[in-house]
Amino acid sequence: MPKTKKTRGAKKKQDMLTAKNTNRHALYQSAVQEPEADTRFMEEVFVANYDRRPILLREDFCGTGFLSATWVKEKSDRRAIGYDLDEPTVEWGMTHNVAPLTEEEQSRIQLKVADVLEAPLDPIDVVCAMNFSWWIFKKKEQLLNYFRSVRKSLADEGVFVLDIYGGSEAYIEVEEEHDKELDGKDFLYVWDQDKVCGISDELLCHIHFKFKDGSAMKKAFTYDWRRYGMRETQDLLLDAGFGKVDVYWEGTDKDGDGNGEFTKETHAENTEAWIAYLVATP
Ligand SMILES: C[S@@+](CC[C@H](N)C(=O)[O-])C[C@H]1O[C@@H](n2cnc3c(N)ncnc32)[C@H](O)[C@@H]1O
Repeated sequence: MPKTKKTRGAKKKQDMLTAKNTNRHALYQSAVQEPEADTRFMEEVFVANYDRRPILLREDFCGTGFLSATWVKEKSDRRAIGYDLDEPTVEWGMTHNVAPLTEEEQSRIQLKVADVLEAPLDPIDVVCAMNFSWWIFKKKEQLLNYFRSVRKSLADEGVFVLDIYGGSEAYIEVEEEHDKELDGKDFLYVWDQDKVCGISDELLCHIHFKFKDGSAMKKAFTYDWRRYGMRETQDLLLDAGFGKVDVYWEGTDKDGDGNGEFTKETHAENTEAWIAYLVATP
């Protein structure tokens, strides 16, 4: 068929991301996750504490196991085990993150469909709970129970790494849009903090994706969480049996935006929106 203007236009549209031709997990990984930054951080804090490299990672709430797959791919002696309750999500991860690894890399990773509370208490170097997944526990006792089980799973030399967000915007209903790319194609990532309760600290949040052709994936992901405070979480980790909790606070660039560099701090200015890592050790 000759390439008329019309067919060239049609091809262009095919090359665009649309709600129909893409997958929500692929969009999520591109928009939200930065596994290389997380693995670098985990290795650095482990080495800073114990002067040796960590080998075994347990990724709690692993979703598609993108972080675990990155962990084993980066260094040939590393191993990873991920736990997530949602079978279709784990299956997508097996196909798109684990299957592309070499056979040898695949022998060093396992993704399991299971509750993090059922993870065996084998000694682990690094346990992580990323993207605020641990806010799923709405009762303090549930969270303490989870933190206690992580504490029991750590080897004598181990770290538990979890992230947390806060600032004045964490207390209000807010919707923010960010330009993102997947395989060089643009889309819009929308973080929708839809309902925030002033009494229970519960949050109902959604992720939506929007595309250039006008299509959208509304509520591609929904999170029904309780927000825990920074000091409150440190106290709960200590109550659960951790000996020390360090806070790694994000630095800012010249415009005052987060620069992706996290340093150990004991005081920080509260801002509209901040993200930090907590690192708990035995
Ligand atoms: C916010 S997503 C995090 C995905 C990924 N870890 C990341 O960093 O982006 C939360 C994940 O936790 C899983 N989840 C929720 N409760 C769980 C539980 N009790 N045990 C294991 N996984 C759970 C959900 O299925 C979901 O995939």
